[in-house]
Amino acid sequence: MNETPGPDTTRPRSRGAIPTGAVPKGAVAISRRRALAVIGSTVAGIVLLDACGSAAVSAPGGWMRADVDPSTLSPDQPVPVRFAGAVGGATVAGSAWLVRRSAGELVAFDPRCTHARCAYDWTDQASFACLCHKGFFRVDGSVISGPPPRPLDRFGVRETGGQIELEVPADFSTPRPAA
Ligand code: FES
Repeated sequence: MNETPGPDTTRPRSRGAIPTGAVPKGAVAISRRRALAVIGSTVAGIVLLDACGSAAVSAPGGWMRADVDPSTLSPDQPVPVRFAGAVGGATVAGSAWLVRRSAGELVAFDPRCTHARCAYDWTDQASFACLCHKGFFRVDGSVISGPPPRPLDRFGVRETGGQIELEVPADFSTPRPAA
């Protein structure tokens, strides 16, 4: 007479536990090394995507007071504001374009064109114009036309106690003069 062996009841098994080496139905078995490699490449991909897709990614900088009275800002009328301060032990000074959007949001644009880092200006045609290679941007920083590959980069901006501060990146440099 044949007797079918019963389940091994000599080893404790927690509820839902999967025996070593077993793979649930429908799952794909991968090694621990492969799993770590996938996680690593995913993290790298996220960092790369962030670096390429965001307009605000840069080296950590420093907060600097902008030389502007917030009450003088008119909706959707960008103004150049100067700043100066220290970042990473170095003194940095320059200017950025500041605009209070009609909805109230404050936006500070990096003064360097995203094409080749030339200076640009706000024009009577209600757009930013970079004359180095005829790049044009809307008041929200998006590209209208020309060679710039992405919208204008932004600085962090905050308003406290009637003052405006800009987060200037550590790698800030003076824009190239417009040609
Ligand atoms: S640097 Fe601005 S369009 Fe080329």
